[in-house]
Amino acid sequence: MTASINRRDFLRKSTLATFGATLLPSLLRAAPSDRLRIAHIGLGGMGNQHMKWFAALPDVEIVALCDVDQDHLNGTLQALKVLHPGTRAKTYGDFRHILDRQDIDAITCATPDHWHAQIATMAFQAGKDVYGEKPLSYDVREGQVMLKQLKKHNRIFQLGTQIHAGDNYHRVVEIIQSGAIGKVHTVRLWKTGFSPGLGHPQPQTPPPTLNWDMWLGPAPYADYFPERCHHTYRYFLDYSGGVFADFWCHIADVVWWAIRPEGLKSVLARGEKTDGVADAPKWLDADYEFDNLKVFWTTDPPDVPGASDRGIGAYFEGDKGTLICDYQTRSITINGETVSDIPGIPQAVLRSPGHQQNFVDAVKSRKEPESNLEYVRGMTLPMHLALISWQLGRKLDWNPKKEKFIRDKEAKGYLSRERRKKWDLV
Ligand SMILES: NC(=O)c1ccc[n+]([C@@H]2O[C@H](COP(=O)([O-])OP(=O)(O)OC[C@H]3O[C@@H](n4cnc5c(N)ncnc54)[C@H](O)[C@@H]3O)[C@@H](O)[C@H]2O)c1
Repeated sequence: MTASINRRDFLRKSTLATFGATLLPSLLRAAPSDRLRIAHIGLGGMGNQHMKWFAALPDVEIVALCDVDQDHLNGTLQALKVLHPGTRAKTYGDFRHILDRQDIDAITCATPDHWHAQIATMAFQAGKDVYGEKPLSYDVREGQVMLKQLKKHNRIFQLGTQIHAGDNYHRVVEIIQSGAIGKVHTVRLWKTGFSPGLGHPQPQTPPPTLNWDMWLGPAPYADYFPERCHHTYRYFLDYSGGVFADFWCHIADVVWWAIRPEGLKSVLARGEKTDGVADAPKWLDADYEFDNLKVFWTTDPPDVPGASDRGIGAYFEGDKGTLICDYQTRSITINGETVSDIPGIPQAVLRSPGHQQNFVDAVKSRKEPESNLEYVRGMTLPMHLALISWQLGRKLDWNPKKEKFIRDKEAKGYLSRERRKKWDLV
């Protein structure tokens, strides 16, 4: 069996080749287990959530856990033992040992952002399917490589935008796509809250339980201090992009799903650096021009009805009305009348069985999951471009077909970064 054919593929392919399709059901019943064998990689705040979500699914068995921090690894193993006292999950400090195991079908990845593409791509190459956390990638090139390798190895990928599975986004999409508010020409997105500066900590020796070099991975070497590591890494540009990068995809998702913005022409971002060691934007506002659509991201809620009540939101302006929503609520205003639903609009979008179950179903059926890689890459790319515009302090013109800046060598340099040698991404 080659590394790119996993247990499930092997079972299916060898059964079909040897006995023909008619015998398949009985043979599948005879298999030792038809449960998906999953490993969780990255066991901090979100990784523990992954473990709990997947532990609750009847057709999943958690067979491995991995973290570069021994304390996190042990903590999650103990939590898993409470949920599944008989668990035989093995623990690892290096995810490559998990990728080497032929008996593992899929991984979940909830490491910091600078690892997402590396781990997912190597997992595709090892024949594993991936449920990976947002944002999809650290930079534009990473997303391109991920998509290419996903297709080459015929894998399944679901991004961890779990709000996608909720009823509210489904209903917003149905209402927008019904044409009730007419053609949408402007969208306003916002998320309140500043990225903290984190003071001016001094370098320290990493704790003996933490493999700091493996935590840094493809990112440039940097001395350790706790603020740079667990949870608050998201306020450093070497690993992520602050509050903006943390929340972009959760709320941009409903816009991309409802209207699929196309033909991005330009982006102009403004913002301010934090007042401490953290170098992500303290706040960021961005103006995007797409074909026949303007999209604005702000840190303060926009001056439109209902926005100041919501810490995060999307406001769609159409030529017949408006729709404002957040993760759980929505209001539609047409001809001065505001309602929370338009019952006459049929339920046209298939409801989700749950974001994690949807991934498991996709792994089994080999059909694209709801937050698949091709879709989420399109929605993530504008986030990367705004961070580049903010760092360069100017408007950037974009060729969406070639995925290149127009006549701007300096900006081009930000589409990918140099990686530490042993973490080349190919
Ligand atoms: N979908 C959501 O709503 C949501 C919510 C929170 C966080 N997230 C995402 O989840 C990811 C993790 O965020 P967090 O808040 O849990 O961070 P965290 O710092 O609490 O956890 C990250 C964990 O990954 C581990 N890690 C680092 N490098 C690793 C490697 N090479 N192999 C294995 N483990 C490694 C760390 O030791 C740590 O335990 C981020 O990308 C974040 O954007 C998503």
